[in-house]
Amino acid sequence: MKRTPLLFFTLLVFACCALAQTVDSPKWANESHTQKEERMAWWSHDRFGMFIHWGLYAVPARHEWVQNREQLSTEAYRGRYFDQFNPDLYDPKEWAAQAKKAGMKYVVITARHHEGFSLWDTKHSDYKAPNTPASRDLLKPFVEAFRNEGLKIGFYFSLIDWYHPDFIIDRVHPLRNDKAARDENGNKDMGRFRQFLKNQLTELLTDYGKIDLLFFDFSYPGEDGKGHEDWDSEGLLELTRKLQPGILVNDRLDLNDKTWGWDYITPEQFMPKAWPERDGVQVPWETCQTFSGSWGYHRDENTWKSANQLIAMLIEVVSKGGNLLLNVGPTGRGNFDDRATDRLDAIGQWMKYNNRSIYGCTAAPEEFVKPDNCLLTYNPDTKRLYVHLLQWPFKTLYLPNFKGKVKYAQFLHDGSEVKYTSRSSAEAGGHTTVTAGENDLIVDIPVVKPNVEIPVIELILE
Ligand code: GLC
Repeated sequence: MKRTPLLFFTLLVFACCALAQTVDSPKWANESHTQKEERMAWWSHDRFGMFIHWGLYAVPARHEWVQNREQLSTEAYRGRYFDQFNPDLYDPKEWAAQAKKAGMKYVVITARHHEGFSLWDTKHSDYKAPNTPASRDLLKPFVEAFRNEGLKIGFYFSLIDWYHPDFIIDRVHPLRNDKAARDENGNKDMGRFRQFLKNQLTELLTDYGKIDLLFFDFSYPGEDGKGHEDWDSEGLLELTRKLQPGILVNDRLDLNDKTWGWDYITPEQFMPKAWPERDGVQVPWETCQTFSGSWGYHRDENTWKSANQLIAMLIEVVSKGGNLLLNVGPTGRGNFDDRATDRLDAIGQWMKYNNRSIYGCTAAPEEFVKPDNCLLTYNPDTKRLYVHLLQWPFKTLYLPNFKGKVKYAQFLHDGSEVKYTSRSSAEAGGHTTVTAGENDLIVDIPVVKPNVEIPVIELILE
């Protein structure tokens, strides 16, 4: 009898939560937190994907926004590059093999970028790969090749379209400064454009088998911009979920104030200081990053990150509970250039021996504070903690307050034992100048750094 008020209260809380959820979400978006976690489980486990930006812009090779930067009309841009798009070296099996070797577990390709050019044989536009010298659907063999290598498939789908005749010219359009072009805005019908988006999306989500992820890009509400109503973001999301019920969707539809409007957030070319939060709660996140400063192939862009920086970036992202989507911009001939290949190879070399500190891993529990010049990741299933040594210490690594928490330590790359002690035993052994804290672990490190870009010590916890 006494438990009745508590039971009543608990039921009330549950009912309120359920109600809040239903009020907030449209019917098609109703999903519990656990269901969402399950839907996203593969992605949270895999941590590392390949982004691919490929379109007509690979031909001018001056950034995928070249049409915009140079303020080219559709006629000028199409006139110049459409007939030059001839990817004679295109071999998606080779791309897929390189992605797999680098340790990437999923791929996201620009099915259509802002320029409006479609890589597939869409029925809703003539501005597509089959009408160029490529003369075929480039997406079909791509999807097949990556799937055969066991990678999950994602499509990047641009909301923006600088080619479509009904797309109203706004502040991010190539012709934003062209008065005559702007005067035509009155004759355009965004309703037809919204239908075009849905038609294309339907093709992509119907004709290519199971699609695991959709990367919409992007909304820019406000003065002379476009927001969720212009795209009918809600309708696009509903259609996406209906056609591919298990799919993951990013956060660029301008539905971020709705709990059901996105699955994960996408900081771009940016490393958050800590695991990002919304309303005080840590959220799934993925940073997308380029090798250099451009997404599309950019011949003369020379700020390429080193292999070491890229590997460290992957580790840092996982140490903050996130994913890394690392971009390649294939050339107009359809291959990865050697700067990209070099880096993918180096990442693959590291991943081959160290991927246990990435897959299935996340931020370390708070009680483990990272040692100097190190990054920590943690696998909650195996209860192993990974110490990544960004800088090689001289003979000794101090693990602050780790005493009593570690059962065994080994290098990940070769499984060799790493010995450690604590202050009391070091002092007992005659080392009276030990300055470590009582609860620190003192790890013995060989003087010479092993031949590994970033060595990792695996700690099997008590
Ligand atoms: C941006 C850019 C774009 C790139 C994308 C990648 O929104 O417009 O060129 O495709 O980010 O995240």
